[in-house]
Order: sequence, then C-alpha cells, then structure tokens
Amino acid sequence: MTPDRYAVIGNPVEHSRSPWIHARFAELTGQRIDYGKVLAPLDGFAPAVQGFRAAGGHGCNVTVPFKFEAAQMATATSARARLAGACNTLRFDPDGIWGDNTDGVGLVNDIGVHAGVALRGARVLLVGAGGAAAGVLGPLLEAAPAAVVVANRTADKAQALVRTHQPVAHAAQVQLRAAPLADPGTAYDIVVNATASSLAGDVVPVPATVLRAGTLAYDMMYGAGARGFLQWAAAHGATGRDGLGMLVEQAAESFLVWRGVRPPTAQVLRELRARVDAA
Ligand code: ATR
Repeated sequence: MTPDRYAVIGNPVEHSRSPWIHARFAELTGQRIDYGKVLAPLDGFAPAVQGFRAAGGHGCNVTVPFKFEAAQMATATSARARLAGACNTLRFDPDGIWGDNTDGVGLVNDIGVHAGVALRGARVLLVGAGGAAAGVLGPLLEAAPAAVVVANRTADKAQALVRTHQPVAHAAQVQLRAAPLADPGTAYDIVVNATASSLAGDVVPVPATVLRAGTLAYDMMYGAGARGFLQWAAAHGATGRDGLGMLVEQAAESFLVWRGVRPPTAQVLRELRARVDAA
C-alpha cells in the first residue's frame, strides 16, 4: 500500500521544516505517510490545493500567505479556525474539506509544556494584530491568563481583534484590551512577538519596560527572524524563546487532526533544535 500523502502548501515553501517534522512523527507513531512541499503561485492557491487532492493528497498544512484563503476554501471549520479567520490545516474528507487552525494550541503547548511557564493567571502582552496574532489569540485566552493586552502599530487592527475575541475572553474570565504600541503597560509575565518587525530588521516595536527580570519573551519566528527580539530580551534580563517549539507543537496537532494520533513532541523538538543550530 502506498503511504497517504500530505504536504505543506505556501509561497515561499522551500525552507519549510514541516516535511522533516512529519516524517519523524510518522516514524515515532508507526503511521505510514508521505509529506512533501507544494509551492503555490500567489494567485493560484485553490488550484494548487485541488491539484494536490486530485493527485491523491489526504490533507495539507497551509502557510504564508494563504491561511485566510484556506479558511474560505474549507467547507466546514473548527471553532478556533473561525475565531482566527484563518486555517493552517486542511483535511480532505469524502464530503468536503475540514479546516482547522493549530497555531494557537501550538503556542500554548510550547509555553506550558516545553518552556514550563504557566499561562494560567499570567499577564500577557501580545504584540501584533496580523494573521499570526489572530491565529493564536483564542487559544491564549482559553488558557485562562489574568489579562491579555494586544498592542499593534495600526491601532484599529488591535481593537478589531479585541472586539472579535471579547466573548472568548469573557467566558474564560480574562481581561482583554488593546493598547498603543508606545504605551503597552509594564512588567508582563509573558510577551509574545507576533509581528514581522525583526524580519524587516526593525527595532523591537515596544519599550523594554514591558519586560521584567525573568519575563518569558517569546518570538513566534525562529532563526534569523527571531534574532533581534531575542537579543533585545536577553539585554533586558528576560528569558527569550523562539517559535521552534510552536512549530513542532502545531505540527503535532495537525497530525492528530489527520491521523487521530498525537505524536510525541519533546524528542522531535530536541532533534530539530540540533538541526537548526547546526544549519
Ligand atoms: P502575519 O501573517 O505574519 O501576522 P501580517 O498579517 O502582515 O503578517 O501582520 C504583520 C504584523 O506585524 C502586523 O501586526 C504589523 O503591524 P500593522 O498591523 O501595523 O501593519 C506588524 N509589523 C510589521 N512590521 C512592523 C514594524 N516594522 N513595526 C511594528 N509592527 C510591524
């Protein structure tokens, strides 16, 4: 029997670590899958998905810049995908396409399990209000921190994100509000950078007073994209962490959506860290 096919679909996609991660998950769980990469043209996401499905694909991960289009393409979606307005996971079912978003649970699991930092009761600053921030805010709120503040360069976008998430915040008894980038509050327990600022080589867009000694300063990127933020965090006595663990955890949740099996992640994260450090 040929293995079931999956892929990550994006643009760009060549440097994706997802094929390696899913190959390790398959080995560790005894699942037979084949996971590749599909480069979709910027104006050709839906045909790329349809083509992959027609060629025998069972599902796919979706990455930048197609997560919003993926949510449009899905015929049914999870509550967390609807809240984010975006999907990073599609499963091809006989009666349609199931869309999910595993980014938020990936972040929450990496913070709670691998970093060992409690979200429950914490004061959290989320910097950014684009697709990356929208993907994680719901699960962050459901982890029951005391308060979450969303700060973004474009204030309207932070306010809009807060508005759509207010019912979830209310249900989880979390204080949720938007704040200006220049005045985001001070001494948070956890600061999450969901902006693209360090990728652009720009300075970290919030004052260092958001940190205290030991704050978990988390960048959702890894490698060069996280470097500026991590240096800034270290210079101010915070504990920096990149998004490699989030990448592994979101992949594990996608694997669960497709295969009904949750792969072990700690070992895969250790191995991936060694590979990334050696690259
Ligand atoms: P993504 O899917 O990666 O979130 P996005 O939706 O384009 O991409 O969002 C990028 C985020 O990074 C936004 O919050 C953006 O702020 P604006 O909403 O004001 O555009 C933020 N961002 C990008 N470059 C930035 C910079 N140099 N300084 C501050 N924020 C920046």
